[in-house]
Amino acid sequence: MPMDIHGVKSRAEHEIEAARDPETLEKIRIKYLGRKGEVTAVLRSLSGLSLGSRREIGPRAQELKRELEAALKEKLNGFAASYLRPKIDLTAPGKKISRGHLHPLTLVDREIRKIFLGFNFSVVEGPEVETEYYNFDALNIPPDHPARDEWDTFWLLENTSSGKTQGTKRKNDTRLAPSDKLLLRTHTSPVQARYMESHNPPFQIIVPGRVFRYEATDQNHEINFYQLEGLMVGKNITLANFKFIVEEFFKKFFGPQFTSRRIEFRYRPSYFPFVEPGVEVDIKLKNRWLEVMGAGMVHPRVFEYAHYNPRDFQGFAFGVGVDRLAMIKYGIPDIRLFYSGDLRFIRQFS
Ligand code: PHE
Repeated sequence: MPMDIHGVKSRAEHEIEAARDPETLEKIRIKYLGRKGEVTAVLRSLSGLSLGSRREIGPRAQELKRELEAALKEKLNGFAASYLRPKIDLTAPGKKISRGHLHPLTLVDREIRKIFLGFNFSVVEGPEVETEYYNFDALNIPPDHPARDEWDTFWLLENTSSGKTQGTKRKNDTRLAPSDKLLLRTHTSPVQARYMESHNPPFQIIVPGRVFRYEATDQNHEINFYQLEGLMVGKNITLANFKFIVEEFFKKFFGPQFTSRRIEFRYRPSYFPFVEPGVEVDIKLKNRWLEVMGAGMVHPRVFEYAHYNPRDFQGFAFGVGVDRLAMIKYGIPDIRLFYSGDLRFIRQFS
């Protein structure tokens, strides 16, 4: 039985090549290599052939069998690989791209700055590591003053730098003994003293910045937090100017959110060594009075430290807790959340 091995081979290979699924491959296998397959039939028929034909056809038929088996196997492996490859579902919803966003304290800081820039205030900053002089003395809080206890202070190791870096202005001023002792500023008020040393009135500034208190933490207290200082100095500045600015500020800051009722304000007498009179500002939101700010008219002694004549100028100063404003604005119950780094908290402000 003459056998067109070459013809069978090219036909089978063609069919294998064209197969699109494993079932078709199996049919091809049965057709050629199955019990009644074409190649199998040739191999079976060998025994009835002459030795010469057997020697000629036998090895070629065996080789064809191996080749087809290999081709089938390779094609099947290709199918398996493509079955494992993930299919692209063009109708599936896209993956959400998560972008970074601002921390709630940054949001509030930006908003506060924007409002005060609208009042023509300038933004000024000062150092977080401060000297005892600016943090206390220049603010009319001498070393033995009981009010120092109000600000639990992180003191730093003795300043070992050789040269005195204090301003030249006070060098021969025997009234003062400027203290170079370093601390972490307990409020932003020292920037009042720094700014007045190098600028003349009239001016109006805000000073946003981080402050530090050596205190036990709880939901309303952190060892570091943010304050915003305000200072306006000029001729004939009165508490009425302060009231206008501060009320406009709070209306703009809380207004859009708590519009249903006008915000009410309350001014309670208070004490800070660097103002006289001193006041505490309360605002009423949702029927609750909230203490939001310390303020007052700049104390004449503070002007003297800055070498202003207190008869020529008046000014008001205020200090507000930025964290506290953020807590009120967003209904945040615990100041420590701002510093926790907890993404479940932070992500609510994206
Ligand atoms: N510095 C004060 C504090 O930290 C706040 C304040 C600032 C009060 C300015 C009056 C004037 O408590």
